[in-house]
Amino acid sequence: MPCIFITGGAGFIGSHVVRRMVNNHPDTTIVNLDALTYAGNLANLLDVEDASNYRFEKVNICDVPALTELFNRYQPDAVMHLAAESHVDRSIEDPMAFVNTNVVGTVNLLNAARELWKGNMVGKRFYHISTDEVFGALGKEGLFTEATAYSPNSPYSASKASSDHFVRAYHETYGLPVVISNCSNNYGPNHFPEKLIPLMIHNILEGKPLPIYGDGQYTRDWLYVLDHAEAIERIFLKGKLGQTYCVGGWNEWTNIDLVKVICRLMDSKLGKAPGSSEQLITYVTDRPGHDLRYAIDASKIDNDLQWKPAHTFEEGIAKTIDWYLDNSAWLEGVTSGAYQTYYDKQYAK
Ligand code: NAD
Ligand code: TYD
Repeated sequence: MPCIFITGGAGFIGSHVVRRMVNNHPDTTIVNLDALTYAGNLANLLDVEDASNYRFEKVNICDVPALTELFNRYQPDAVMHLAAESHVDRSIEDPMAFVNTNVVGTVNLLNAARELWKGNMVGKRFYHISTDEVFGALGKEGLFTEATAYSPNSPYSASKASSDHFVRAYHETYGLPVVISNCSNNYGPNHFPEKLIPLMIHNILEGKPLPIYGDGQYTRDWLYVLDHAEAIERIFLKGKLGQTYCVGGWNEWTNIDLVKVICRLMDSKLGKAPGSSEQLITYVTDRPGHDLRYAIDASKIDNDLQWKPAHTFEEGIAKTIDWYLDNSAWLEGVTSGAYQTYYDKQYAK
């Protein structure tokens, strides 16, 4: 039976990718490799945990002996690499955690794959999932493409850029069969409530201030996470080796306009007076090195792999809010304990 390693499968995007791969590929063993950091949560995968083609291995990708043992035991044909430290604000507080997991952990995986596949790379594939943040900030005009020069501005994006470079270098130097994608901001179910959209939903539910960094005019291109999971499967199966694919939602919002949409939807779903959630909006100190705008030109993946987002933003955001309202136990589970300490420190500034 073929075997695919998915790293970071207990996280936000990874859990949607694991579910999709387990269900769509019943004759392939899908092994989820995850350290279960604060962002990893096996409750994201309750519906597939008993599937006969699914395995979970708790492992830190910085632990080389443990990785070697897993590669030897399972002999994977492919790796889909999503494990990462993923939050910009945390990278500003603790850059080394990002260097260790995102750079060193990625190189550890490349080494393990290279060692296992040496002599026979045919049919093998190392797929690295990355971010559009590696390209830095756009001005008011223009879009990122596969040809955009790297110009990362945060420790997070610098660590992801570095990992992209290593993946590319292993292709050029050792002939490792790699493919890379760079995606815009995702949103949807199971998103950890340190990121903008789930943080706003959570704070509205709690009646807490909605912190907007700076003037709120920063712009992001939002993609529904199930659409990204579909794109990831498509790139994994059909993407050309050695190439990169930009993935995005064709869906730009300034932060303040996006938060107002969430406020209006939450008021209506919670039966609150129109305008009441917007009163919670609070402008706070800006993030250092804050990138003004990200936006993806996703023409290549559309033309070459026939992928485009299936959900409109109106559908995606409504489904997202409904998911959080229906899954209050999940939200409570991830916002207890260490989350509170993080939150108090981050928003005391
Ligand atoms: P996430 O923070 O929700 O999940 C990361 C997962 O990786 C968690 O399950 C965590 O336990 C695991 N992990 C972290 N460090 C690890 C380590 N050292 N060893 C093993 N496992 C470890 O992240 P996400 O938002 O799901 O992002 C997944 C990937 O997609 C990341 O590589 C990220 O850079 C990329 N990406 C994310 C977005 C986005 O909007 N969230 C957009 C584009 C690309
Ligand atoms: P985030 O979800 O952290 O994603 P990223 O920084 O990777 O794009 O932030 C999205 C945008 O929202 C970004 O411009 C920063 C802003 N933001 C706020 O204004 N307030 C907040 O509390 C957070 C977490 C983010």
